[in-house]
Amino acid sequence: MSSIHLLPDLLINQIAAGEVIERPASALKELMENSLDAGATDIAVQLEGGGVKLLRIRDNGRGIAKDELALALMRHATSKIASLDDLQRVASMGFRGEALASMAAVAQLTLSSRTAEDAHGWKVEAIDGHISEPIPSSQPQGTTIELRELYFNTPARRKFLKTDSTEFAHCDETFKRIALSRPDVAFSLQHNGKTIWQLPAQTIVERIAAILGNDFGEAAVSVERQAANLSLQGLAALPAYSRSSRDAQYFFVNGRFIRDKVASHALRQAYQDILHHQRHPAFVLFLDMPPEQVDVNVHPAKSEVRFRESQGIHQFLFHTVQEALSSPMKDSVPQQTDAAANDESAAPSPHPSYTLQQQGIAFGAAQRQATYRLWETQTAEKGEGEREKGKTEPAFDVTLPSSPFPLPAQEHPLGYALGQLSGVYILAQNAQGLIVVDMHAAHERIVYERLKAALDNERIAAQPLLIPVSFYAEPLDVATVEAEQETLHRLGFDLAPLSPTQLALRAMPTMLKQSEAETMALEVLRELREYGASRALTERRNELLATMACHASVRANHALSITEMNALLREMEQTERADQCNHGRPTWFQMTMGDLDKMFMRGK
Ligand SMILES: Nc1ncnc2c1ncn2[C@@H]1O[C@H](COP(=O)(O)OP(=O)(O)OP(=O)(O)O)[C@@H](O)[C@H]1O
Ligand SMILES: [Mg+2]
Repeated sequence: MSSIHLLPDLLINQIAAGEVIERPASALKELMENSLDAGATDIAVQLEGGGVKLLRIRDNGRGIAKDELALALMRHATSKIASLDDLQRVASMGFRGEALASMAAVAQLTLSSRTAEDAHGWKVEAIDGHISEPIPSSQPQGTTIELRELYFNTPARRKFLKTDSTEFAHCDETFKRIALSRPDVAFSLQHNGKTIWQLPAQTIVERIAAILGNDFGEAAVSVERQAANLSLQGLAALPAYSRSSRDAQYFFVNGRFIRDKVASHALRQAYQDILHHQRHPAFVLFLDMPPEQVDVNVHPAKSEVRFRESQGIHQFLFHTVQEALSSPMKDSVPQQTDAAANDESAAPSPHPSYTLQQQGIAFGAAQRQATYRLWETQTAEKGEGEREKGKTEPAFDVTLPSSPFPLPAQEHPLGYALGQLSGVYILAQNAQGLIVVDMHAAHERIVYERLKAALDNERIAAQPLLIPVSFYAEPLDVATVEAEQETLHRLGFDLAPLSPTQLALRAMPTMLKQSEAETMALEVLRELREYGASRALTERRNELLATMACHASVRANHALSITEMNALLREMEQTERADQCNHGRPTWFQMTMGDLDKMFMRGK
């Protein structure tokens, strides 16, 4: 064995590169972040061969002075922090001073730069750790960095790179994350000479739409909350947009894209009630907090963080997003109480926006307007042809068309029942137009929320049956009844064994229908048997209650009177998360008079 010795610089940097520059996309991330740290407002990226062959980035940032060019490529050289104190409150994207040195160790790197003071630019080249003397270059103010043949000198590493298209896909994802984090900056991306993205500086809502598409915005609710020194802003998609993979989850902490267990758990939980468990939520969320409350120096690629108060962050994320997703309609309806009348914020507009799409896209009043305009513009661009200038009618109506039908004052957002369609839908009229409600789905959601509230308050109210219902049961069910009396009582059931294969149901939850009592009791028993009482009441609680709700709700083909229909509409307005059934399907939607007019080509 040889004696202990210091490693040469090039090898040290190549080792570091293994961590920092895992693939072209990681180099792209470091380079784009450097450009942002340099105050660039325009960043152009060109890739060839998935970024392996060539990765070129040009920015209009403050540039690097001639005599600092070589320094920028050295390890532990940074302009961003100078002390531990700085490290603990770092506000720039970079701070380790190793990204460029790592890249220079594993690729042929050219760095050209020009500051505002320079008469022309200067350029240095680094190959195998040797940095050339600066030579003049024709470079506008800003910095251009070229990386060629990534990992050309570390073949073992190069072998791990995947096909060009896979490497490009990773670069594309990196590009999108950074572009989402800074809508105020213009970005472009080319691959093999083809323009993939061309994004002007724009509002956050426009940027999200540009990157995730209109359907995301249309299916999303806005999230916005400030509490103490935490702030969360962004859009969270309703289940209609949910994905079977995690590809639309963008979570940023102080502008940095982050994958974090605490945050994912909180967000997942916020969606728990409205999302099928095999689907993934979709969101773009920005969490901002004082830098000293979060440690970003945890991971070489800075893609993880550690929160000082992770419990508090969890709570904050969970509650904020859950509330945004449930957005009970009662909150958006201006109730004519004195308090509401005196408080402008409590009554946001005379015509609260509460259709599924309308809820989705507001970042406060000013931006809301921009949002509506945005969806409109983009729909128009999609081939609806040019609209008249100055006519800013949104893609879906925000303002009410004057209704030819005299309606009572807008007291109820879901309006008044007109009738039932095919025993499945309730048709109702509100000031905006027509409301169509999926009767079963809506009722199921109401019952479910009520069951949940009741169980949270100790127990679900039971109603004794005049004549107990007796039915056949497996011996295991009978045993479960004997063992789980307490839990069954909490769930509103009074069951007693009559024989080893017979059970009697003596009381059942008040709000459930008797006709399905037997099936429901058996399902509850099966759940208790499979998961045990404590799990059934904790992690399985929602599934259990959803099963009960499903059996209890009005079936299709059940005729309802107008009074019953109106009662259901009123209950929906009072129920949290009434916009989706327990399986995440919508429970109702609105067709505005505008939509109908369009369909009949009126007013054209
Ligand atoms: N595009 C750029 N424009 C202006 N200066 C730059 C640019 N890229 C890098 N620099 C300068 O070079 C220095 C080294 O960059 P490098 O990315 O290696 O380290 P860092 O950004 O300070 O830290 P980290 O390793 O965490 O990214 C930076 O501190 C900055 O001063
Ligand atoms: Mg950097």
